[in-house]
Amino acid sequence: MSRKFVFEWDPESLELGVEAMDKDHQKLIFLMNNIFQLYSKKSSRDQISHSLDELGKFVVEHFAREERYFDSVANYPDADIHKSIHKKLVNKYVSFVKSYKEGGDLTDDFFFFLKAWLVAHIEGVDARYAS
Ligand SMILES: [Fe+2]
Ligand SMILES: [Fe+2]
Repeated sequence: MSRKFVFEWDPESLELGVEAMDKDHQKLIFLMNNIFQLYSKKSSRDQISHSLDELGKFVVEHFAREERYFDSVANYPDADIHKSIHKKLVNKYVSFVKSYKEGGDLTDDFFFFLKAWLVAHIEGVDARYAS
């Protein structure tokens, strides 16, 4: 699989200027890269499953933290939509993990999903509570 799935922290496009969220987003990237590296090295399914659970757990924590944050931003109009997008992302992630644990593979689709999530969500959605 090609380098296209290496996730990079690009302050220019991804930094929101909200320190706690920027830190979380960097950790998301770190955990995503970790999954991709383990997958590329053909690590054991146990190790890969563990890394998937780690990202899943952190994502849930991050979304909760982010929701508390933007609920405290006075003029942020998209809170409900943003929460429902978070829910959809988690559901989709959980279904990818489930099918992997049932013996499936991590497909390009999965890594594209992570990448799209990262770029589209942070730049397109998260950026609006910080603006
Ligand atoms: Fe978000
Ligand atoms: Fe976020």
